[in-house]
Amino acid sequence: MNEIESIELEPTLQPANPVEQGADVRRIHFDLFTLFPAMFAGPFGESIIHRAQEKRLISIALHNIRDYTTDRHHVCDGTPYGGGGGMIMKPDPIFRAVETVLTQPPGWTLPAEDIYVNLPAWDPQAPADLPPATPIILLTPQGRLFNQAVAAELSAYPRLALICGRYEGVDERVRNQLATDEISIGDYVLSGGELAAMVIVDAVTRLLPGALGFELSAHQDSHSPGLGGLLEGPHYTRPQTFRGEETPPVLLSGHHAQVAQWRHEQALLRTLSQRPEFLRTLPLSKKELLFLQRQGWSPSDQP
Ligand code: 6GU
Repeated sequence: MNEIESIELEPTLQPANPVEQGADVRRIHFDLFTLFPAMFAGPFGESIIHRAQEKRLISIALHNIRDYTTDRHHVCDGTPYGGGGGMIMKPDPIFRAVETVLTQPPGWTLPAEDIYVNLPAWDPQAPADLPPATPIILLTPQGRLFNQAVAAELSAYPRLALICGRYEGVDERVRNQLATDEISIGDYVLSGGELAAMVIVDAVTRLLPGALGFELSAHQDSHSPGLGGLLEGPHYTRPQTFRGEETPPVLLSGHHAQVAQWRHEQALLRTLSQRPEFLRTLPLSKKELLFLQRQGWSPSDQP
């Protein structure tokens, strides 16, 4: 492990701990298993995720799968049986890393001096007794599609383990015997699950009460597009006129009810133009139906 990694890892070592009593306190500890822990330093060191860690709403432990190899060259991949191109991630380092970490309390990481040379005892033959309530999520393009509903589902767990697939694939035994879930973040291929893990940590963390400024947090759930809500309409800030384009006068009018109605109409219009398929499953009021029909939309329109 290089110096940068150990520095970046340090603030994430401690598990999420209560800071205040009583209120709606939901906290999550993430265990991330990867061959490239240094990839996470930037995204996790800034903005919402950084602040959520400081507030102890979340904690993130990065585990380098390679640390759990015992052979002299610390090999984590192999050629596929049956031939063909590409390299496949070996099962044993992944099983050893995940089973070692998840049988320890949240927040545990392998001490730097123990990497390779002093690993905790591990049975290569038999499955470890893993905590049944901790999802072990394999990140691959073959998984179920991640969306806001899946983010909400995951945000209910106190601990999540994410395994970042790499190379051309992961040995099937990881899928069959270790993972409890498999997730993809979209229908395109990434070089590895690391970017997907960052996306999931971000989307899940935002859902924790207190992670956003509190004027923002109430705005979630049924209003978010991924849960079948409307897309947001346009926003403006100073200057009032920019390159000849003016801020809509209603926003400067001070009429709160008119502003609210305009924003709602704009949200309907934007949803109609960008994601019309959302409109078919939304519970629309008579007024909303009428407004959309005046825009040429019909409830039977196909997506
Ligand atoms: Cl989770 N992994 C990879 N390698 N590619 C992806 C993905 C995950 N989700 C979408 N594409």
